[in-house]
Amino acid sequence: MKFERSERLKKLPPYLFVEIDRAKKKARDEGRDIIDLGIGDPDLPTPKFVIDAMNKAMREPKNQRYPLDAGLPEFRRAISKWFKKRYGVDLDENGEILPLIGSKEGISHIPLAFINPGDVVLMPDPCYPPYKSGTWFAGGEVELMPLEAKNHFLPDLKAINHNILHKVRMLFINYPNNPTGAVCDKRFFEHVVDFARQHNIIVCHDAAYSEMGYDGYRAPSILEVDGAKDVAIEFHSLSKTFNMTGWRLGFACGNPELVAALAKVKSNIDSGVFFAIQRAGVDALENYDRHIKPTLKIYEDRRNCLVEGLRSLGWSLESPKATFYVWFKVPPRYTSALLAKELLDKCDIVATPGNGFGANGEGYLRMALTVDKKRIKEAVERIRKRLI
Ligand SMILES: Cc1ncc(COP(=O)(O)O)c(C=O)c1O
Repeated sequence: MKFERSERLKKLPPYLFVEIDRAKKKARDEGRDIIDLGIGDPDLPTPKFVIDAMNKAMREPKNQRYPLDAGLPEFRRAISKWFKKRYGVDLDENGEILPLIGSKEGISHIPLAFINPGDVVLMPDPCYPPYKSGTWFAGGEVELMPLEAKNHFLPDLKAINHNILHKVRMLFINYPNNPTGAVCDKRFFEHVVDFARQHNIIVCHDAAYSEMGYDGYRAPSILEVDGAKDVAIEFHSLSKTFNMTGWRLGFACGNPELVAALAKVKSNIDSGVFFAIQRAGVDALENYDRHIKPTLKIYEDRRNCLVEGLRSLGWSLESPKATFYVWFKVPPRYTSALLAKELLDKCDIVATPGNGFGANGEGYLRMALTVDKKRIKEAVERIRKRLI
């Protein structure tokens, strides 16, 4: 029997990191010592206090049932408290917060709540791939906003095609940004909110890297901007902040109608986040202050090490103020794909070609700070010896 895939599935390219993971596994099976700077998956362990909380919570029968609905009230309360302290923003735990099975889940589902076939969704290029796939699954059209170095990797809202604005229903932005490592200030968010209010557009801000800032940089929330709650929903993740990528825990917050519509989609697809994981999320957020400083110090040291190392090869690059990605232009004779291939074939290093995130990523490479300094130094030396 032949199983014909749906048109919507056929439209999707293979998921970038699944492909990279395959190439990496193949190289490892060949016995090669791979240095993996590919996917943004922290090598650091989940903090013990989170694991202990999980251990305790999972033994309680009440936590073993379907979580359903709006999530664990204690988790929503902890989010609300943390958000107030971190951003100075009030969030009503009853209606403005929704726990997610990782922020990817909410990001990819939100178009199903608002996008009809033919509606247009604006998104950056390069970008995190689920903005596109979520839009296509909902039958929407993708309209790209180029992120260019000359604009500090911020989209130029004035350059958006005015002829399609009447069809635009949703806009994705993401700061601190993956893959470029770019940051924005509150003024940029103000422009986005003004633009969205003027054209009746839903703003989805992906804040998955909000807590990873260096050199004293602290990312703002779009919800700090006056009027943002009229148009915006923000997606947060505990994945990178607390080294919990495998746990699948995040949350959406902001405009209550947007949150409620996403909850309705979810209630028809999944049954919520395991209560014990939400319970552990409470402990994570309550211990944020003591956890985040040493974590950021580790990444900051790694960042300095990689940036200095790559510069010592004669490659020119900016030091990112946030995220755990170093994004740089490939040397002149390379394309993104060619450099990524030569790094893997000749140096046993996995890195992500920029064009995997969209056409405007062509000519760039992304390296993740997910190995220790010793391995970063070794990666740089391998490039010096085997590629330069
Ligand atoms: C920009 C961006 N948003 C969201 C996510 C999803 O994170 P999670 O689903 O683990 O919360 C990622 C993960 O890499 C990301 O890079």
